[in-house]
Amino acid sequence: MKILILNGPNLNLLGRREKSIYGSRSFEDYLEKDLIPGFPDMELEYFQSNTEGTLIDKLHEVGFHYQGIVFNAGAYTHSSLALADAIAAIETPVIEVHISNVYAREATRHVTYIGGRCVGSISGFGLESYRLALQYFERQKPNKV
Ligand code: DQA
Repeated sequence: MKILILNGPNLNLLGRREKSIYGSRSFEDYLEKDLIPGFPDMELEYFQSNTEGTLIDKLHEVGFHYQGIVFNAGAYTHSSLALADAIAAIETPVIEVHISNVYAREATRHVTYIGGRCVGSISGFGLESYRLALQYFERQKPNKV
């Protein structure tokens, strides 16, 4: 089962960025020590970009082949109709994830353009939000896409 973990803008700075909100661990460390060993039967690919168009290109590239996409669109969540359209255009199911609980933060973060195009949303469990999303895909039947 091929799964893409896709991180959007500023998430390359996890571990260094606003640690009180996002924690002190880099995503690469979490991926290597927790996610990859935790899901030995999954083929996990990780990609991060700070650029909206690059994220769209990546969704198009894998979105007719992979079995799932775990997507933290960062601040584009709250602004990008183009990313919402890209998720609607592809066949691979996408789960929206957030490290922080966006609903407990500023009102502008309560709006998600992409949420309605996704299978579901997971928000507020720290880095464990990604694990919860992978657990959903792990339980899906193979060859759905
Ligand atoms: C975030 C929440 C967004 O509001 C914010 O812009 C981010 C990270 C999260 O993972 O909690 O960059 O997606």
